[in-house]
Amino acid sequence: MNASEAIICCENLGKFYVQGPQRVAALSNVSLQIGDGERVAIVGASGSGKTTLLNLLGGLDSPSEGRVLIAGRDPSALGERERGLLRNRLLGFVYQFHHLLAEFSAVENVAMPLLIRGDSQRQARQRASAMLGLVGLGKRMSHRPAQLSGGERQRVAIARALVAEPRCVLLDEPTGNLDHQTGLEISALLFELNESRATSFVTVTHDLELAGSMQRMLVLEDGRLQD
Ligand SMILES: Nc1ncnc2c1ncn2[C@@H]1O[C@H](COP(=O)(O)OP(=O)(O)OP(=O)(O)O)[C@@H](O)[C@H]1O
Ligand SMILES: [Mg+2]
Repeated sequence: MNASEAIICCENLGKFYVQGPQRVAALSNVSLQIGDGERVAIVGASGSGKTTLLNLLGGLDSPSEGRVLIAGRDPSALGERERGLLRNRLLGFVYQFHHLLAEFSAVENVAMPLLIRGDSQRQARQRASAMLGLVGLGKRMSHRPAQLSGGERQRVAIARALVAEPRCVLLDEPTGNLDHQTGLEISALLFELNESRATSFVTVTHDLELAGSMQRMLVLEDGRLQD
């Protein structure tokens, strides 16, 4: 695969955090490519750099070294607005800590990416409702995040990541808060989208069943990819 066929690629990626006199290397020298329709798992111990890598791949954070290309474009080289549009058009995110908007209902949260890209209120709401139905929350449309269980919030976050039919979805522990059965149902939904729409998935997970069902597994150890 060359770089032009990759939805996301990175070269010699590094991320350092400076904390007083300390310099923490969260990620060092990571190069990889995610192809269209690929399913990739990122695994590794707590603190190994999984969330850091995912945030860099999604253009949510800027690298200290190296670069990321999303559909051939470097998010760090774009202005805030352009970068937001690139993410909105191509990517979906499920964060480790769901990041739902507290003041908005489930259906409003899920509709947000569609409204941002310019869909009408009516269309956005319709599609958001359908997506919530698919993740099993058809009866929780008007609940706010605080009125939902942890696993339900996670499913709202998954619906929000999928609703705009992104080319690639980045997920940070998507099944971490879910019981086994619900986790399996969510995995099945991700697979179906992967097959029917060639959506790529990059998922951080401790769930070995989910990791094992991906086509590729990237193992991080102290911020480095194992070969
Ligand atoms: N904002 C920050 N400032 C300083 N250090 C940070 C920051 N964010 C992360 N780190 C450090 O970088 C390293 C990697 O963190 P990261 O969150 O990527 O780990 P992780 O693999 O996602 O862990 P977990 O499985 O616990 O979620 C850790 O040692 C962490 O302490
Ligand atoms: Mg993490």
